[in-house]
Amino acid sequence: MNYTQAEKMLKSCGQEHVLAYWKKLSKKEQGELLAQVATIEPKNVKYCQSALKQGGAVADSSKGKAPKVAELKGTALKTAIAAGEKELRAGRVAALLVAGGQGSRLGYDGPKGCYSIGPITGAPLFYFHARKILARSIRYGASIPFYVMTSEANNEATVKCFEENEYFGLNPDDVFFFTQGMWPGMTKDGKVILDKPGHVFMSPDGHGGLLAALKKSGALADMKKRGIKSVFFFQVDNPLVEIADPAFIGYHVLEKSEYSLKLCAKRDPFEKVGMPMQFGKTFRMVEYTEMTKEQCLRKKNGKLYFLYGSPAIHVFDRAFLDREASKAMPLHLAFKKIPTVVNGKVVKPTEPNGYKFEKFIFDILPNAKRAAFLAFEQKDEFSPVKNAEGSDSPETCKADMQAKWTRWFAELGVKIPRNLPLELDPVYALDASDLRSLGLWLAAD
Ligand code: UD1
Repeated sequence: MNYTQAEKMLKSCGQEHVLAYWKKLSKKEQGELLAQVATIEPKNVKYCQSALKQGGAVADSSKGKAPKVAELKGTALKTAIAAGEKELRAGRVAALLVAGGQGSRLGYDGPKGCYSIGPITGAPLFYFHARKILARSIRYGASIPFYVMTSEANNEATVKCFEENEYFGLNPDDVFFFTQGMWPGMTKDGKVILDKPGHVFMSPDGHGGLLAALKKSGALADMKKRGIKSVFFFQVDNPLVEIADPAFIGYHVLEKSEYSLKLCAKRDPFEKVGMPMQFGKTFRMVEYTEMTKEQCLRKKNGKLYFLYGSPAIHVFDRAFLDREASKAMPLHLAFKKIPTVVNGKVVKPTEPNGYKFEKFIFDILPNAKRAAFLAFEQKDEFSPVKNAEGSDSPETCKADMQAKWTRWFAELGVKIPRNLPLELDPVYALDASDLRSLGLWLAAD
């Protein structure tokens, strides 16, 4: 793109102020600005402007009801596991990780997946995810391709982390990195914000950016070529997640669901998690910030009206993702303090002054022809690392990881002393049954 093309494009969406300092920029800065402008699509700018006018996507939860949530036990559980194992053996399952976010609450600069969480080895979050995928693919004798979404800010460091760790044992041909899109930040009047005289402020387009990025990068086509049917989605911050869990995959397939969600009982009424709600025949996710106070209360019997929260563990039908990938998604607004150029000088605001735009993947839930909800035990599968201290911190997460492994040993009748440091490589033990076989092997040796 040259200057004339950039000027024409920016004028078409009322953003010509982006070139206000053009003459004061060095040749290098001019080149960088043109390259950045080339990534901005006028239709996206207009889409953001209309989202601003409407106040962004906000769910009205007041008429929402709690959906029916299945609990699998006995024969139903066995049937679901068998169906999931069949999918895994046939190589029809992929793992999809969203890892484009910034660890700002954690106070960590690098990609969150590189954050050290192994209680003994200090292994990063990515290690636990990748080793679980490897273990599952060894167990079922079929590869589980691993699609990892990064952002411009962390793609290079993420790929480096995998390379330096030899892909944690995975075959690099089965690991597909792709980068999510960026949206420009805007003032309330719909003007794109310059955070330097030759630079537009841009931020990642949210985990919902996944769909467009899957399509653009060729990852969706790759899934199709490999014969993938079910896509297991998870977030980077939860090392307890049971990736490609056969019961969940099987339940999803048996229910002929397009979008299935694992849910767990909230730890407290105001836990900061999203909740699926039913509105007539459709379902949609409601964020904790969008719930009414009454919806967070308990019934007379002491149970919460909305018991289940979403740990963001989903299974998607691949064809459903394909169908949704070309559709526009709702935009959520975040009002933030964004550095701004005023009279050629960068000013750091003390109050929020501009909007960031994000898409959320769960906004495609209402479009699913069939959706399914499955309950599970929080202590077994959900302990995210979100904050530097307190709840959902590295300390609570490590304790929960160790408690889970300790429970596996207890199932075998082995009591692990309380403060004994414990860590298991998922390739050695994906669950208590692996520990049992390992024990027999050790005894036989
Ligand atoms: C999220 C969910 C919430 C859920 C909770 C469970 C949203 C809005 N809320 O909350 O419903 O109950 O997790 O832990 O998602 N990410 C990207 N690109 C982005 C932004 C985020 O890839 O542009 C990724 C992050 O790397 C992370 C995940 O999305 O893996 C979640 O992001 P985060 O900001 O941590 O979500 P929460 O607000 O904690």
